[in-house]
Amino acid sequence: MDTLRNLFDDFYDLVKPAVFRRTEEDPKKAHELFRRFCGVLSFTHLEKLVLDNKSNLVPPPFELSNAAGLNKDGKFHPKVLRYLGFDRVVVGTVTNNPWDGNPRPTVRRYSETESMVNWEGLPGIGAERVAEKLESYGDHGIPITINFMATPKKQGDELLRDLEGTVRRTRDLPYVDRYEPNISCPNTHSGSGGNDTRDGNLRMLDSMLLVICQEVYREQDIYLKISPDSTQADVNDTVDIMRNHRVRGFTTTNTTTNHDRRYIPVSPQVDGRQVGGASGNAVYEHSLSIQKLYEERRKEIGANWKLIAVGGINSLGRVRERLEAGASGIQLYTPLVFSGPRFLRELRRYR
Ligand SMILES: Cc1cc2nc3c(=O)[nH]c(=O)nc-3n(C[C@H](O)[C@H](O)[C@H](O)COP(=O)(O)O)c2cc1C
Repeated sequence: MDTLRNLFDDFYDLVKPAVFRRTEEDPKKAHELFRRFCGVLSFTHLEKLVLDNKSNLVPPPFELSNAAGLNKDGKFHPKVLRYLGFDRVVVGTVTNNPWDGNPRPTVRRYSETESMVNWEGLPGIGAERVAEKLESYGDHGIPITINFMATPKKQGDELLRDLEGTVRRTRDLPYVDRYEPNISCPNTHSGSGGNDTRDGNLRMLDSMLLVICQEVYREQDIYLKISPDSTQADVNDTVDIMRNHRVRGFTTTNTTTNHDRRYIPVSPQVDGRQVGGASGNAVYEHSLSIQKLYEERRKEIGANWKLIAVGGINSLGRVRERLEAGASGIQLYTPLVFSGPRFLRELRRYR
């Protein structure tokens, strides 16, 4: 059962150095190559034969899913991600309208420190086309989370209608049982011309949650995607707002704009200004400490919300650390790029 998967994982390790070299200027090309390769597997119905393996037979003692950004437009067939080793598939960030995002390149890889910086700016094909894509996969049986935010530049009532539009278009799709509002993207244009909407999102959080909770079905969960750059005051405010709404938990965390020079020796610049959110090793410590602040608040107020850990989780030791800090789920993006799909099999054997 594992022979072809062993070959697949070996192949990833073998071609990685050459692919990294050839895509150094625009690392998104490597991602597109991987997606196209996976697309061929699902088109030819070979995904089970090639990717499935013994580690998929027993679930690990935590929920394992891809992090948002890896499958922005839902272009990975859910079965491919399932056989790779994920139990849940996150799609997004989805915006109601299509959006181009920033001009490429918008990602930089730091291989020596297994970190990345991205300033993609929420590019996407829009909720309508994402929904059509997900409908086309039929009866796959894999739980889906929709990570979403308003189309950049929208403000006030327009922003709220945008969120409403995405939920309405996706809530009846098969296996969509969770929503993850992305209030923590550090790279989006605000309606007022700024490049970081995180503070604005926090100010609008109450109105956003009012709309989201009205539109999301009661049997579907809502998890807020949190910034690792939050302050204690942000955590307290978020928790206070969230207590008035039907939110199930938090996904901690997104990328950080605090570029630690140990991991990001030279930050990407656009028009002479530092850009981007750092992920992988560069976000691990920030991410863990914010997760701990949320867990502390949870205990203080006796809430039963759940925590999903994401950010630089690239070893079993780090999984343990995040579970001990209260997480019941783990998400991955950057560690998968550097450690390859073999890492998913290792993670699934965690006991
Ligand atoms: C290239 C790239 C694109 C991303 N796009 C999104 C996104 O669209 N929405 C989102 O909520 N998070 C996005 N993220 C953040 C990840 O979901 C994750 O929170 C962060 O990278 C930390 O996890 P990691 O170290 O496992 O990558 C993106 C990350 C990367 C590297």
